[in-house]
Amino acid sequence: MKIIRTKDYQEMSCKAAGIIAAQVLLKPASVLGLATGSSPIGLYEQLVKWYQNGDIDFGECTTFNLDEYRGLPADHDQSYHYFMHKHFFDHVNIPQERIHLPDGTQQDADRECARYDAAIQAAGGIDLQLLGMGLNGHIGFNEPAGHFYKGTHCINLTQSTIEANKRFFASADDVPRQAYTMGVQNIMMARRIVVVVSGENKADTVREAFFGPITPHVPASILQLHPDAFVVADEAALSKCGRLLK
Ligand code: F6R
Repeated sequence: MKIIRTKDYQEMSCKAAGIIAAQVLLKPASVLGLATGSSPIGLYEQLVKWYQNGDIDFGECTTFNLDEYRGLPADHDQSYHYFMHKHFFDHVNIPQERIHLPDGTQQDADRECARYDAAIQAAGGIDLQLLGMGLNGHIGFNEPAGHFYKGTHCINLTQSTIEANKRFFASADDVPRQAYTMGVQNIMMARRIVVVVSGENKADTVREAFFGPITPHVPASILQLHPDAFVVADEAALSKCGRLLK
């Protein structure tokens, strides 16, 4: 695992966008695994700028998002479909038919999860998976648990995640209680992983996840075992790592 330390959120976004741009330049038909949340917004902005300047072309890319709230339709303004279109898809040239997210409106969870796993496999697997990390160490919606979840699954959000995400909804009661998410196996099978983490409020979790024991109670800790993972984190997020950083 390679840790890239940056001054602030903006530099984090630029460095992480550079790794994604390099992936697409080297392999235009890349399969990108994408994330939502506040951590990747700056890097999507950077990628959009490079696209608008003609420096990068997403025309052959395929994308799979990590997760989607169960119960929200694509046009709900808090759905991850909506987020991705607003921050990225509407501004670049990824063909619509090659954009994939779990369908939050599907009631048959087993069927929807199997469909999503099969689609990832049919695309040849994920070349680069982008991740943020939750305050409790979750990746995608793989919440702390007694075991690592494998493939795409339907999960009950923890109270801590509902609390963290309520800022986007009218109230905590409006936050959906379930989500479809890729599993840890989907994530670990990606050929390269880029995690973006910013802010002092994540500093304890960063130390636990990337320098502590590997445990499903801190789902991001599994990333220590990935052979090609980058953590791009700002000084504030790394502020509790001290001498652990070389
Ligand atoms: C989003 C996702 C989540 C977020 C995590 C961090 O698709 O899968 O795991 O990456 O909750 O969210 P932010 O970046 O808002 O702190």
